[in-house]
Amino acid sequence: MTSLETRPSTAKTNDRSHVFHSWSAQGLINPVVIAGGEGSWFWDEDGNRFLDFSSQLVNLNIGHQHPKLVAAIQAQAATLCTVAPSFANDARGEAARLITERAPGDLDMVFFTNGGAEATENAIRMARLHTGKHKVLAAYRSYHGATGGAITMTGDPRRWPSEPGYPGVVHFWGPYPYRSAFHSSSDAEECVRALAHLEDTIMVEGAGTIGAIILETVVGTNGILVPPDGYLAGVRDICDRYGIVMICDEVMCGFGRCGEWFAVDRWGVAPDLICFAKGVNSGYVPLGGVIISRRIADTFKERPYPGGLTYSGHPLACASAVASINIFEEEGIIANARRLGTEVIGPALRALADRHPSVGDVRGLGCFWAIELVRSKATREPLVPYNAAGPAAGPMNEVVAACKREGVWPFSHFNRIHVCPPLTTTDDDVRHGIEVIDAALAEADKYVIA
Ligand SMILES: Cc1ncc(COP(=O)(O)O)c(C=O)c1O
Repeated sequence: MTSLETRPSTAKTNDRSHVFHSWSAQGLINPVVIAGGEGSWFWDEDGNRFLDFSSQLVNLNIGHQHPKLVAAIQAQAATLCTVAPSFANDARGEAARLITERAPGDLDMVFFTNGGAEATENAIRMARLHTGKHKVLAAYRSYHGATGGAITMTGDPRRWPSEPGYPGVVHFWGPYPYRSAFHSSSDAEECVRALAHLEDTIMVEGAGTIGAIILETVVGTNGILVPPDGYLAGVRDICDRYGIVMICDEVMCGFGRCGEWFAVDRWGVAPDLICFAKGVNSGYVPLGGVIISRRIADTFKERPYPGGLTYSGHPLACASAVASINIFEEEGIIANARRLGTEVIGPALRALADRHPSVGDVRGLGCFWAIELVRSKATREPLVPYNAAGPAAGPMNEVVAACKREGVWPFSHFNRIHVCPPLTTTDDDVRHGIEVIDAALAEADKYVIA
């Protein structure tokens, strides 16, 4: 049993006095002070240990403190810490080569950013300039980052306080078989209807005005929504027919999270632009980017690309990406993520769904899974309402607290618990974490209506 009580250490006092935290009412939070981590575990300053079932912010694909990754950053720091973006540099070039070699289709150039939001911002800038068309179609139930354009494209309540956003962003419904916007009764039907809806949206918005469609290949925070087979190929076809740039946001689902280098690989689809961040180097140093098709890169062959960042292709970040990609290859990390999904996590979660009346649906792939909690399997009423806060979110908070008491740190969002451990987690640790969730679900079962 783990205690979350912390004494007010200097770290805690400084944090509470001076650190302004993301997405939070500053007076209502009590951040746990993290003292260290190793592999799939981290611990607080009181020595309470947690199994990291959320990979921090679903970015720690390689686990905490991988010795070779730490050594690569140290070696780069000893060689050259920083260079301006206009220069060429070993680490930057090698990172771009390794990333593009793994990317699908003709995606063979990289624009480096510091994180995911800057990647989606630059992707839409590229698409608009390449096509000369300004509108962007983005999905409801999506997250693309918190900067101006990225939050406008976001299809969840995080966008609301930043409205009105940028003009020209239009939202559409993507596939979600469990809560179909199209009243579908099968994955195949959902696929056909979601594609028809997308094409209808293009018809009424005007194909001649739409430069890009952006979507998360597998939707992350908004529910681990795995697209039905055929959906991404259908979007590719629509984009080709209407001269629209297809942007896949793989900030969360890329770099092994879904058991592939890129989630699109599972369906053999090549978009025009891929946005990445997080798992590229597990966030040891901030890094993101856009992988660009040759055709779009050529738009900027004679004409300057009107965008840049002081830290684009930062050597410490790029050296860590190089090391991380090499470690993934040496240690078979992608294959391990895929195997964990098919052999360990998937079967264990399906067993939970059979046992617990509060588990409405489980879905995912690789190390990227959701447990969707309901008050009734028959009506699918969510355990807590959409975007619940305060007392309305109570039942979910009870499940999460029960996990943390037993030393497992889950990722929770709305009425879902996500299972997103590092891709290097041992089978035993994964099984242990799911056993803890199993016990914690008793808290949710209490709210089930007969
Ligand atoms: C799919 C997706 N896109 C973009 C972002 C934004 O990335 P960042 O927080 O690095 O700006 C996130 C972050 O969670 C994400 O999940």
